[in-house]
This record gives sequence, structure tokens and C-alpha cells, in this order.
Amino acid sequence: MSTINSFGIDLGTSNIKIFSEESKSIFVERNMIAIENKRNLLAYGDSAYAMYEKSPSNIVASYPVCNGVIADIQNMETLVKYFINDLSKGGMKMSDYYVAVPTDVTEVEKKAFYDLIKESSVKARKIMVVEKAIADGLGLGIDVKTSQGVMVINVGYATTEISILSLGGIVLSRLIKVGGFKFGESVRNAIRKEYSLLIGEKTAEKTLESLYELEINRQPALVFGRDIVSGLPIEREIPTKLIDEALIENFATIIDNIKVILERTPPELGADIRRQGIYLTGGASQISRLASLIERATDLKVNVPEEPITTVALGLAKVIKDDKFNSLAYYIEGMGR
Ligand SMILES: Nc1ncnc2c1ncn2[C@@H]1O[C@H](COP(=O)(O)OP(=O)(O)OP(=O)(O)O)[C@@H](O)[C@H]1O
Ligand SMILES: [Mg+2]
Repeated sequence: MSTINSFGIDLGTSNIKIFSEESKSIFVERNMIAIENKRNLLAYGDSAYAMYEKSPSNIVASYPVCNGVIADIQNMETLVKYFINDLSKGGMKMSDYYVAVPTDVTEVEKKAFYDLIKESSVKARKIMVVEKAIADGLGLGIDVKTSQGVMVINVGYATTEISILSLGGIVLSRLIKVGGFKFGESVRNAIRKEYSLLIGEKTAEKTLESLYELEINRQPALVFGRDIVSGLPIEREIPTKLIDEALIENFATIIDNIKVILERTPPELGADIRRQGIYLTGGASQISRLASLIERATDLKVNVPEEPITTVALGLAKVIKDDKFNSLAYYIEGMGR
């Protein structure tokens, strides 16, 4: 066994995905931390999420990544340290780190991903970054180094990243603040307005994840919440039509941005995209109707992978394991080696 391990990290706003070369697997947990009395670490990952929206005021559960960039540096460092430690069952080894970064953010925000690993006390030998969309393309099984004109749309929790790739690079990229969180917020607002019912973020998220299933079976969604008028907790059936209508505006924003990017795409690359279709990734890309609405609006085929949450991490695994793709990782300028 090699003495050096390699990790590939996709630091999502709602889920952290970590590929470990040694265990050859991808670990997925909530990117959340629960702090008690402003200083004691109470829980992290999925167990912190279990406390979210349920904790007394002295316990705060929060996401340290906001809109795809690191907002709460200290807590994110703590999380990285704990997750890597959990993955290093035989004790933490000197390791190489490959971190996926969004393209359409500032250089300072990009460098924060490097600083995060450097400051997390995780025994880093080498810290490299890979553009998130490039890793996404690789994870989809596309040879991004030779392929020309590939459109990848990653719909996550806080953001949707629309990118055009060609010959191992990014030709165009746009990060918009629409994703699973906004979908949930629109649904919560619609339910409050229509039924005077307050529902939590978790309930909204679960409902959206089951929406496709409910629609197939022609069933309404069953939600628990608090009635604004009586103040009492109640259970209520919500027609999926109301949910669909609440989502329309978000889908329109995503589609408008896809069209803008397509309009700016050089024609030769556009022709490649027409032949291969669009690739849709990210957890929230699975939301009912989105893929078919994009197909209809763009008149392009939409390809969906089996596991859209882990495509970026799978791509990082390829960068780590396959010498052919190792050159897609780079040092950030100004970063010490
Ligand atoms: N089957 C499903 N249907 C609809 N939405 C889903 C489904 N499964 C997961 N999601 C949503 O996917 C989102 C999480 O996806 P993902 O892990 O790709 O986001 P992230 O990487 O953490 O966020 P970001 O990329 O914005 O930083 C959540 O909003 C979750 O509710
Ligand atoms: Mg993501």
C-alpha cells in the first residue's frame, strides 16, 4: 500500500463528497456542523443535519459553505479535519488533496479552497485545484481533453453552474444562485400563502425529492407543518400541481441562463453540443420535469447520469488515478508549494 493517500473533495453547499484513493470510494455527508454554546462541537455531517431546525437556541446547526463558496472558514476547517480523520481509519497519513472549485467566482474565493486544506491540519503534501465543471465532465465519462463543445449544467443546493467545455478547458461558465434551496423556498412560500401553513426546510426538501414518484403515482404530497391561524401542528395533503406551479419561476431562470450561454457559444462548439446534447448533473437536477423542460426549451437532448450527486467527485478520482488527466489539476497562482 502506498504511503501517500490522495483525496478528491467536492465541497458542496449541502453535501460534501470526498473520494479517497485508498478506500476507492466516495463518501457523501451533509456539509453541516452543530455547535453548542457558541464553542463546543456537538455534531457534524449527517448527525448535525438531524438536529437542524430542531435544536434549542444554544445549539446552532449551520452550513459553512454558502452559494458554493466558503463562508464560515473556521467551521469548514473543523469539518474537513473531522471528515478526513474519519476516512483515515488507520490514522491520518500525508496526502495529496484535489479540490474542485467553481469557475465563475473571484480569485480570492478560489484561493480560499486552497487555504482551507492548508489550515485544516490534515497533513497535506500537495494541494491542487480542478475546475468543478471539468471534473463533472470527467465523472460523466467524457474525455474532456479531446472532446469539443460539451455543455454541463450542475444543479446543486444553492447554485446552478452552466459551463461549456472544450479541449480540457472552460470556454464559458456562469454560476447562478438557483438550486434545491430556492426550489424549497418557493414551495414553502406557496404552501404558506395557499394554506396558511408553515413548513420547514427539511420537509420541503423531502417533498421535492419525492415529487417525481408522487406524480407518477398521482398522489398528493403529505406535509407536516404549523397552521398559522390556530398555531397548531397539522398534517395536510398538498396537490403536486401547486408545487409544480411554485417551481416554474426557478426553472425559467435556469432555462433563460442556459439560452444566454448557448447564444454566446461559438458556432462550431454549438454544433458539437447539438450532436451530443446537454449533460445535467447535481442532486437537484433530478427534480421532476426539469430535464424535460430544458429539452423542450432548447430543442436539445438532455443526458442524465445515474448518480448526479457524485459526478464531480468521480471526475476528481479520474484526475487522481489516470495520468492522462492529472494535468487538469493545477496550483493556484500565488499559492506556495
Ligand atoms: N431525487 C431528487 N429530486 C430532487 N432533488 C434532489 C433529489 N436528490 C437530491 N436532491 C437535491 O439535491 C440537492 C443537493 O445536491 P448536491 O449535493 O449536488 O448539492 P451541493 O453540491 O451540496 O450544492 P452546490 O453545488 O450548490 O454547492 C439538495 O437540494 C437535494 O434536495
Ligand atoms: Mg455541488
